[in-house]
Amino acid sequence: MTNDFENPQIVGQNRLAPRAWFASGTTKSLNGAWRFHYSPTVAEAPQGFHQQGFDSRQWDTLEVPSCWQMHGYGRPHYTNILYPFPVDPPRVPTENPTGSYLREFTLPEGWQDGRVRLRFDGVDSFFRVWLNGQEVGLSKGSRIPAEFDVSDIVRQGQNTLAVQVHQWSDGTYLEDQDMWWLSGIFRDVSLIATPKVHIEDVFVDTSLDSKYQDAYLTIDARIHGVQTEGEYEVRAELLDPTGNAVHGGAAVVLGESVNFGGSVERPRKWSAEDPALYTLRLRLAKGDSVVDQVEFKVGFRVVEIRNGVFRINGQAVKLKGVNRHEHHPDLGRTIPYKTMVEDVLLMKRHNVNAVRTSHYPPHPRFLDMCDQYGLYVIDECDLETHGFGYGPDNITNIPEWEVACLDRMQRMVERDKNHPCVVMWSLGNEAGCGQNHKTMADWTRQRDPSRPIHYEGDSETRNTDVLSQMYTSIPDLIKHGARENWLEGEEEMVQARLRKPFVLCEYAHAMGNGPGSLKEYWEAIYGSDRLMGAFVWEWIDHGIRQRTASGEEFFAYGGDFGEHPHDSNFVIDGLIFPNRVPSPGLVEYKKVIEPVVVERTEDGLRVTNRYDFIDLGHLSATWSLRRDGELVQSGVLAIPHVAPHETADLPLPCSLPKGEGEWVLDVDFVLATETLWAKSGHGIAWAQFVLRESQLAASMAAGPAVQVEDSATALRLSGPTFDLEFDRVRGRIRSWRANGIDLLKDGPQFHFWRAPIDNDGGARAGIQTSWRQEGLDHLQERVGSVEVQSLDSGAVQITVTSRIAPPATRKGLDCVLVYTVDGSGGLTLDATVASPAEWETTLPRVGLRMTLPAAFEKVSWYGRGPGESYIDSKEAGRIGRWQATVDELHTPYVFPQENGNRTDVRWVAVTGKSGFGLRAEGDPTLNFSAHHYTTEDLDRAAHTYDLPHREEVTLILDHRHHGLGSNSCGPAPLPQHQLKVEPFRWTWRLVPTV
Ligand code: GAL
Ligand code: MG
Repeated sequence: MTNDFENPQIVGQNRLAPRAWFASGTTKSLNGAWRFHYSPTVAEAPQGFHQQGFDSRQWDTLEVPSCWQMHGYGRPHYTNILYPFPVDPPRVPTENPTGSYLREFTLPEGWQDGRVRLRFDGVDSFFRVWLNGQEVGLSKGSRIPAEFDVSDIVRQGQNTLAVQVHQWSDGTYLEDQDMWWLSGIFRDVSLIATPKVHIEDVFVDTSLDSKYQDAYLTIDARIHGVQTEGEYEVRAELLDPTGNAVHGGAAVVLGESVNFGGSVERPRKWSAEDPALYTLRLRLAKGDSVVDQVEFKVGFRVVEIRNGVFRINGQAVKLKGVNRHEHHPDLGRTIPYKTMVEDVLLMKRHNVNAVRTSHYPPHPRFLDMCDQYGLYVIDECDLETHGFGYGPDNITNIPEWEVACLDRMQRMVERDKNHPCVVMWSLGNEAGCGQNHKTMADWTRQRDPSRPIHYEGDSETRNTDVLSQMYTSIPDLIKHGARENWLEGEEEMVQARLRKPFVLCEYAHAMGNGPGSLKEYWEAIYGSDRLMGAFVWEWIDHGIRQRTASGEEFFAYGGDFGEHPHDSNFVIDGLIFPNRVPSPGLVEYKKVIEPVVVERTEDGLRVTNRYDFIDLGHLSATWSLRRDGELVQSGVLAIPHVAPHETADLPLPCSLPKGEGEWVLDVDFVLATETLWAKSGHGIAWAQFVLRESQLAASMAAGPAVQVEDSATALRLSGPTFDLEFDRVRGRIRSWRANGIDLLKDGPQFHFWRAPIDNDGGARAGIQTSWRQEGLDHLQERVGSVEVQSLDSGAVQITVTSRIAPPATRKGLDCVLVYTVDGSGGLTLDATVASPAEWETTLPRVGLRMTLPAAFEKVSWYGRGPGESYIDSKEAGRIGRWQATVDELHTPYVFPQENGNRTDVRWVAVTGKSGFGLRAEGDPTLNFSAHHYTTEDLDRAAHTYDLPHREEVTLILDHRHHGLGSNSCGPAPLPQHQLKVEPFRWTWRLVPTV
């Protein structure tokens, strides 16, 4: 027996031809509370519920739009590649959750006379609809609209609408994106009334002349209901961004379609930087009376590939992108309007200029916002068949599935074709590369020759206009930029591919802490015109907000709902946390892709304008000079005129400082006036230069001679203000009191382990595995010798040699820590680490860890801040004086892991409220992190609620720390950011603060 939801040849029934999404006619929203019944199978779902008089009083109420799993029906299920059920296309399981929906509505007055259509913007994955007991039709394709003509069924007064949705269908096989499996009517439902004869669809094209100055606007409209040729006329009116009419035109409707156009002189062109939108008003007139009117936005822009370079309005642009899934921590894939705005604002405020709508067309309003706020979009077809692999037996290569593949593409292109923001169509994601892709590409090219076609799966670029890859390493990317990569294969194909631009449709896997090396990626991209940009994977962590039994909030990931199979926290890999708080990765991205770059020249500064279309007139700039972090002088920086892609040289805004200390010049570029997306004063770009380095070397303070009491197992050192007990057996401090207060609970001790980050490769592979295999998470210490020596200065020196090594192997690290205690109560630490053995692996970190008393909650430091930073992700860290509480220093990654490091720190003080505490000084710098969690706590925890919030503070000072990379899916840290085992030596000072 076949049925409609297990038959890929059926993509819909009675669905109207797809068309552009614009405001036409009058709309009545059918969102809101619907009656709802949930059944575990299709067969057990209520029969005949669409019939008049069906008693649904026992049913529940469910909000539409929504994903039913987010409201207690069934459960969310996360898989990356795997289908969650046996692969048996087009069959789906008997256990096929089915939602039955009912609602009544009253037809507004006067609607009877026209045409009424029923529209669903997104239903996952199959639905059938009835109105007043009569079957209207069915549709598949979860994230593309379906419209039905219900003019003949709808009636005056009360109407009853019934919809049945199946979670699984043959369509599911085409929707294997890496995300939660969620179902139901998850986007808007509406009724649209138009006159009987009306403008049904419009396709505008804006082409520019060869100088990109004057435009030609072509309007191609489909008119529904015309009976007599020549009876109607379409009149166009074009309003410029300020609302003035700039163009008019008209054409007589002869058949079903009308095509006309006209030139527009020197229109303001649309770009992400200056998203100038015109309004096109089309009126359908019969004689003097206007029978229908539609209105939508038009942007004048052309996308081209010329000489292998991707260009917008003639200019080689760089797409500074992110991959955006639709996710909301409480609502799943149902995204409130204000959340879409939030995403757009966050992107714009972080210098992002492009979005790939991975891996399906977004809610249509999102694209309106991209037009309006200015974001370039790669609009991606709702097609992924990852679970079939990439071979020829993928269903995208099977003729029975051609209709379904093509249908999805057509419905996306038709819906979104008028958006200036859409600069490329994408055939989908990870769906092999089959014959059906060719069909999709051929149709698209013929329907819309104005946009290039993207598809990462087409490595030979037979159907695509750009070469696209994901997770390419930086050295490989550089080679692609130089057209020196991928030269194997059929000569003609290779040559054709080399003529195409290169895009990284995914890179910088932002899972947990990271990604590293954004800077190096962008140096590579700016190094070649062929490289048109890159899209971080991905925008948001798809965590689902939950509470523990005791009420603690946390974000759930794969497996937390008892699903099988699942891919755990691989769904938590975004630049923003599930609650849309930016993660350090986004802050770093903003800095790396900033549109103004300032460099130091021999006698001044060089400003580069990295905008593609605008000068720097919308910015204002200031400079400030600080000594050791304290402001000395500041002023306004006059910005010269710098055309896009040009540079200008400026003198230094201040004279070169001569005094003691470290002198740092900051230059800041901010918005001079408010924009649609940020207030005036919003930071766009900045730069910092050390004009003069500190000349002072850390020195020991003089003081009275230190008193020593020595025994076989302990050593007591004291001075007027302090008292330090040393454990001779374990070779470390037992207690240290200054001015009567305990400074330490434990340590310092050598520390080499970090709680692995997702980008250490996870449990599956990667460096984390070899670190654990080497036993670096279980190091043991054997104290070799403890020697005490009184120095001439009155200070006392304790030299501890030890061997720190993993169990069960002969490998180990020879460590020496020399403590020099001076009469003022300060402590100088000289550390050396040597490795007699060859280590195949790197080290997570090389540093010292100590535990500080509970009250030490205040942290201030001079170094990079305010956010966390690591060796390959520290561009956004500004050298300055910063303050935070220990709690604030913790970055709450959904899956707990190493976090909160601060790099290039000159000194850090951790104190109680009174300011009394401990200060560590680098020579010249150190890394620090301070937490209420130990490394082991972070390592053990799988959820935030697993972390025991300890009263005491773990302070870790690192001499070196392994990079982040993006090896949860992409490459490991660059060689220069890996912490290789080599001899280490450093000197720091620890002093009590008053
Ligand atoms: C890519 C895929 C994405 C996502 C990512 C890993 O291969 O296109 O959808 O799965 O890997 O997070
Ligand atoms: Mg996939």
